[in-house]
Amino acid sequence: MTDQYAVIGNPVEHSLSPVIHADFARTTGQDISYGRILAPLDDFREAALKFRDGGGKGLNVTVPFKQEAWRLVETHAGHALEAGAVNTLKFDGGHITGHNTDGVGLVRDLKDNLGSPIRGRRVLLMGAGGASYGVMGPLLRELPQAVVVANRTLEKAVALVGHFEKLQKFAAHGVMARPYGALSGARFDIVINATSAGLADVMPPLPRDIFAPGALAYEMVYGKQTLFMRFAVECGARAADGLGMLVEQAAESFSIWRGVRPATAPVIRALRRKAEG
Ligand code: ATR
Repeated sequence: MTDQYAVIGNPVEHSLSPVIHADFARTTGQDISYGRILAPLDDFREAALKFRDGGGKGLNVTVPFKQEAWRLVETHAGHALEAGAVNTLKFDGGHITGHNTDGVGLVRDLKDNLGSPIRGRRVLLMGAGGASYGVMGPLLRELPQAVVVANRTLEKAVALVGHFEKLQKFAAHGVMARPYGALSGARFDIVINATSAGLADVMPPLPRDIFAPGALAYEMVYGKQTLFMRFAVECGARAADGLGMLVEQAAESFSIWRGVRPATAPVIRALRRKAEG
């Protein structure tokens, strides 16, 4: 029997996950189906459990249910416990295991696809919401020189840094929270936009001299050239959108479910061609 998977969210109709997982299934010869589930905003739990009770083997969880998914699971695996958010559910009979593959996806995209190692680099992470919580652990485990978290609401950046206190030792020069106004004069090798500002095409107030020579500006949003990406290029940096992270986190979920790791580069290339075509 074909094993069933799906992405669950609200909204979910534009999710690329079904296309990505169908491609992974084809190239690895796995017999799966992968659909979309639009869950009511106030009834994620019911929708997820209904899928499981119908024989579903796993779900990818997207906006705005990642925290709720964290509360639903019985075992938090990998980075899920510290992230406080779950994007991958695995159903083994009645037992629910939760993973968070977003951070691993980001790190793989930076290192393997974009040739931008994190080790020894200065990283600026913009935003202190769920997206930042999801990636902080894997970023720190790459041993950056420093991670600065900038946020419009400073208290939230302070809380994020405090939440990951035990992992601070992985950054040689530490992990700090700063308001945007205090960034002047600092230079970063990797600047990551984990705010939701890109969706609305506004950008956090960054000084123009924030990018070190050869710096990479990484936008977690995908599928369009955002204001932040344009700004970075004008300032002499390289800019990337989050398409690679999307495909990499999907590959990590796929290998958790199926025990085989699909190749990601051809999928990223194909989606990029489609978006540009
Ligand atoms: P997510 O789960 O996607 O991270 P979130 O928890 O709502 O979403 O967090 C959104 C993040 O984007 C926050 O860090 C938010 O800053 P505040 O904490 O100050 O609200 C940030 N953000 C949203 N719009 C922004 C803007 N126009 N400029 C700067 N930061 C913005």
